[in-house]
Amino acid sequence: MTNSKQIIKRTEEFVKKTMTGDPGHDWSHIDRVRKVALYIAKKEKADPFIVELAALLHDVADYKFHKGNDKLGGRTAAKWLKKFKLDDETIKEIVYIINEVSFKGAKVKYNMKSIEGKVVQDADKLDALGAIGIARTFSFGGKFNVPMYIPNKKPFFHSSFEQYKKLSASTINHFYEKLLLLKDRMHTKTARQLAQPRHKFMEVYLKKFYKEWNGKS
Ligand code: ADP
Ligand code: NI
Repeated sequence: MTNSKQIIKRTEEFVKKTMTGDPGHDWSHIDRVRKVALYIAKKEKADPFIVELAALLHDVADYKFHKGNDKLGGRTAAKWLKKFKLDDETIKEIVYIINEVSFKGAKVKYNMKSIEGKVVQDADKLDALGAIGIARTFSFGGKFNVPMYIPNKKPFFHSSFEQYKKLSASTINHFYEKLLLLKDRMHTKTARQLAQPRHKFMEVYLKKFYKEWNGKS
């Protein structure tokens, strides 16, 4: 086994053991993001090693499950990566991606500078869309006991990360506050294409949700 294959393998084992989110933030989310990120990386000519390691570690010690502490993920990943013979630049790049990857509010722009980071952010956001995205959102809402829907409660477009950390009033509002905005915030052409059908499916889903909410079919 080459050194980089060993690092990936050991990181997989570490992440599998340490994921402490909801069923939408478990190993299966990480594995889907890793696969899609590697696919996009190939098309967009990004470094696959940095992309794979950053994808594997991107939700480790996620602030959402650690009392809003958004520094813990980067620190945990840095501590882990220092176990290996990696150069400081590589570690810095991966930790940077982890610190920047999260959505921080409808009015907060992304700050991702590297192509590897853009690829990982796109792959992570693709997993927030479509059938899987819907399932993950309701899973999250269930974990934090957020109402599914509150009619007449308008979505709120957050202008800071600290504001955004306060949960949406309802899981349906989260679609408007984040999920439906993501297709226009993809960095790469490859991800923009992958986002289209997933976005459409959510629109169809919402129409049906409101129909059934009102007793129709
Ligand atoms: P991000 O870093 O953008 O938050 P994650 O991979 O950590 O990305 O997961 C985000 C997913 O968690 C959302 O797409 C959604 O499914 C769920 N989620 C996060 N916040 C909320 C919320 N307030 N209400 C419902 N679901 C949420
Ligand atoms: Ni994620």
